[in-house]
Amino acid sequence: MASTTLICDTEPWKDLKGHVKEIEKTHLRDLMADVERCKSMMVEFDGILLDYSRQRVCQDTIEKLFKLAEAAHLKQKIDRMYGGEHINSTENRSVLHIALRAPRDKVICSDGKNVVPDVWTVLDKIKDFSERVRSGSWVGATGKVLKDVVAIGIGGSFLGPLFVHTALQTDPEAAESAKGRQLRFLANVDPIDVARNITGLNPETTLVVVVSKTFTTAETMLNARTLKEWIQAALGPQAVAKHMVAVSTNLPLVKEFGIDPANAFAFWDWVGGRYSVCSAVGVLPLSLQYGFPIVQKFLNGASSIDNHFYSTSFEKNMPVLLGLLSVWNVSFLGYPARAILPYSQALEKFAPHIQQVSMESNGKGVSIDGIPLPFEAGEIDFGEPGTNGQHSFYQLIHQGRVIPCDFIGVVKSQQPIYLKGEAVSNHDELMSNFFAQPDALAYGKTREQLLGEKVPNHLIPHKTFSGNRPSLSLLLPSLSAYNIGQLLAIYEHRIAVEGFIWGINSFDQWGVELGKSLATQVRKQLNLSRTQGKPVVGFNFGTSTLLTRYLE
Ligand code: F6P
Repeated sequence: MASTTLICDTEPWKDLKGHVKEIEKTHLRDLMADVERCKSMMVEFDGILLDYSRQRVCQDTIEKLFKLAEAAHLKQKIDRMYGGEHINSTENRSVLHIALRAPRDKVICSDGKNVVPDVWTVLDKIKDFSERVRSGSWVGATGKVLKDVVAIGIGGSFLGPLFVHTALQTDPEAAESAKGRQLRFLANVDPIDVARNITGLNPETTLVVVVSKTFTTAETMLNARTLKEWIQAALGPQAVAKHMVAVSTNLPLVKEFGIDPANAFAFWDWVGGRYSVCSAVGVLPLSLQYGFPIVQKFLNGASSIDNHFYSTSFEKNMPVLLGLLSVWNVSFLGYPARAILPYSQALEKFAPHIQQVSMESNGKGVSIDGIPLPFEAGEIDFGEPGTNGQHSFYQLIHQGRVIPCDFIGVVKSQQPIYLKGEAVSNHDELMSNFFAQPDALAYGKTREQLLGEKVPNHLIPHKTFSGNRPSLSLLLPSLSAYNIGQLLAIYEHRIAVEGFIWGINSFDQWGVELGKSLATQVRKQLNLSRTQGKPVVGFNFGTSTLLTRYLE
C-alpha cells in the first residue's frame, strides 16, 4: 500500500462496508443454529479455547476480513515488528516487547544487535537481587529483612504489574511463595495514595522501587521524593542505598536522584511503557513478591503466545482473529466500545490494564503517515469482573446500547470452595453466569416467548430482549502464572493487529503531552501565587475562577 493510501480506500474495506447490509439481515439466533459455522469459529491454542461464534459474522465475513488484512499488509507488519524495524516511526524506535520474554537462545535484533542477551543480563540481575532480598542476605539500614515493597510508578509503569500481582495473589503456588511479604503500588500524585500506601509500613523493613521509563514523570518523581524523605527521616540519609532501587531506561537521572546505578534495573527504548510489564518494570516487583521462578512462568506463557502470533496462519491465530473482529465491530458495525468481562475476581485489574494498552495505543486521529483518518480508530474499553458487572452495567448491554463483550472464564478456580451438601461449587455458580450471559445477549427474548409465559401485556415491551448482541468467549484452563502471561500477550497482540489494520502508529502516545504541559503552566502559577502572592493571570475565565477559588 502506498504511504498515502488509507485502508478505507482499499477494495476489501469497501467490500466489507457493503457486506454490512448482508449481516444486518441476520440474527445471531439463526447464525448460532448453523453448527458448521459455529465449529469453524472455535480456535484452540495451548490450552485456551476461543469461541467467536457469537460475533455478528458469517464465514464470508471472516474471509473478507482476511482480505482486509492482506490489503493492510498485516503479515508484513507483524514480520517488521518481530524483525526489530522502527515501526514506531514518530519516535524512531523498534517495538520489541516480545524480546522481553524470549528464551535465552533466541535471536531478536534491534539496529543490528541481538537484544536477547541484554534482556537476560537484567533478568539474571533481578533473579539474584530478588533472591537476596527474599532470603534476607540483602537487608535494610538497621539490619532488618525487607519484607515489604512499594513500587512507585504510573501508567505503563504501574497498571501491568498491578494486574499481574492481583492475578497471582490468589494462585496457591504464588501465594505460598509470597508468604509474609507485601507488595504495594503507589501511582497517583494524590497525597491520599501516599497515605494509603505507607500506612502500616515500617521504613526499616520497606524497599521502595521507583519505576519510570523516563525518570521524569512528574507524579512518579514527586512520589519518589516523598518516600525518599520518609525513609531518610526515619533511618538517616545513608539509608537510601539499602532501601531504594530503580527501574528505568534513564540511568543518568537515576543516579542524579541519588540511587546507585548498581541498584538500577535497565530496560530499553524499544519497550513501550504500556508494553513493559515483562521488563524489569513488572519482573522486579513481582519477583520480590513471588520469587523469580514464578515470574519466569508468566514470561513463558507470554512467549508461547508470541510464537503462536508469529507463526500461525490467520484462520487459527487468536490475536489476529480477535483484532480483526474488533475492527469489524468498530469500523463496520459501528460499535465503538468493548466490555472486558473476566469471570474471575483475580482478573479485576485486567480491564484497567487493557484500557491503557488499547486506548493509549489505538486512540489516534491520523494514519502512521500523518493523514487525518476519515474513520474513527480505537475502542472505548471498560470492564469489571463478572458477576459484579452483571449487577452494575449489564442492563445497558442487554437492553440499551450494543457493546461487544469479551467473556473470559477459567476452568479451574484458584480457590475453589465446596460447601457441604451442595453439588455446585462457588466456582460452578460463577461459571454458570459466564456460560449464560453470552447466550442471553445473542438470543434475547421475544414477544412470543413472553406471551407463552403469560407475561402481562403492559410488561411485554419492558421484558423483551432484542438479542443479536455480539460477544466472544475465552476459556482458560486455570489462572496460573503461565496462563496470566498468555492472556496478557493475546491482548497486546490483538491491539497491535487493530492498529496495523487501521494503519496507525499504535506505539506512540503524543495525546498525553498537551495536558502535561498545561499542568506545568498551572504548577508555575501556583508556585508564584503561593511564594510571592502573585494573582492568577494568563488563563481563561473558567480556569482563572477555579484557580483563584483554590488559592483562596
Ligand atoms: O501517560 C503517558 C505515559 O507516558 C505512559 O505511556 C507511560 O506508561 C507513563 O506515562 C509513565 O511513564 P514513565 O514510565 O516514563 O514514568
